[in-house]
Amino acid sequence: MVTTVTVNPAIDRTLIVNDFRLGAVNRVSRTIIDAGGKGVNVAKNLKNLGCDVKCLGFMGPNGKYIENVLSELGIKFNFVQIKNDIRTNIKIVDEIRHTYTDINEAGPDVSRGEIEKLILSINEHADLSDVIVLSGSLLPNMDKDFYRQIIEKVSGKGVKVILDADGDALKLGVEGKPYMIKPNIHELRRMTGKNLESVDEIIEEGMRIIESGISIVAVSMGGSGSIVVTKEKAYKVNPIKVQVKGTVGAGDAYVAGFAYGLSKDLPIEEAIKMASSASTSVIMREGTKACSLKDVEELKEKVEIEVIER
Ligand SMILES: Nc1ncnc2c1ncn2[C@@H]1O[C@H](COP(=O)(O)OP(=O)(O)OP(=O)(O)O)[C@@H](O)[C@H]1O
Ligand SMILES: [Mg+2]
Repeated sequence: MVTTVTVNPAIDRTLIVNDFRLGAVNRVSRTIIDAGGKGVNVAKNLKNLGCDVKCLGFMGPNGKYIENVLSELGIKFNFVQIKNDIRTNIKIVDEIRHTYTDINEAGPDVSRGEIEKLILSINEHADLSDVIVLSGSLLPNMDKDFYRQIIEKVSGKGVKVILDADGDALKLGVEGKPYMIKPNIHELRRMTGKNLESVDEIIEEGMRIIESGISIVAVSMGGSGSIVVTKEKAYKVNPIKVQVKGTVGAGDAYVAGFAYGLSKDLPIEEAIKMASSASTSVIMREGTKACSLKDVEELKEKVEIEVIER
């Protein structure tokens, strides 16, 4: 089973407001609500890939909608119920001016007791899981090394932890030595403080991270594909040529594909193919949609991987 952790879930509200004006009263012509948060998105992708998956994290009094969505999709969950509401992220889409405005909340405060409950829950699920995915931002009043604490707690249980975060959550999380990290190139630059322009520089940096005790470093580079570094080899993965309809959620699908591969003990090249084709399936679709198994099966045949011996 794969367990995903969403510390900061979100209710995503997309408001269609044509001729949107700042400082004026605007009328909403259509509202689209979606269950968000990176771990929740990873779980939706895993479910579509046919993988047994469970969502953990925090959920507030206003989070019933997310739980209903997960129930309808047949995704298991066991969130720690917190006192405060979870965040709502608002996206204002103006179909006349073609503007997209995002208004994202930071997320609620949580109490020490609520944090302890989540740590306990993740620790218990680690015994039942092949892979744990820690992804997305932390809450403002949580310890910035929360992911490191979790990784250290479950280490030794044989569960593989994938960390997909940014800023301090990533920088400090890496110190816990997760099994795999999946920064995009910008996150890797922020983490290392280096420019990392060329493929060689990225591979070299990946090798340095591997030497610190992490088994897989997968660096996604949007339209330029990805680079995966392991102890033995490095892999340059070319992007699959498709018509791009929207890149939101590509990274979450990439993580889901890899989590699928690791949970089934697939050879690394197979896991890379799952990751690359799942993310490509997502970008072929408009809006925030999860990958489709049919797409993935077709796209897998088209993944080009250049193996670089180390
Ligand atoms: N424009 C594109 N063309 C082809 N493939 C793409 C494109 N954008 C993303 N991908 C695929 O999706 C993968 C992940 O994308 P990206 O590097 O944008 O992740 P991310 O920045 O973590 O995304 P997210 O915003 O979801 O966290 C890439 O490695 C690639 O396989
Ligand atoms: Mg990402």
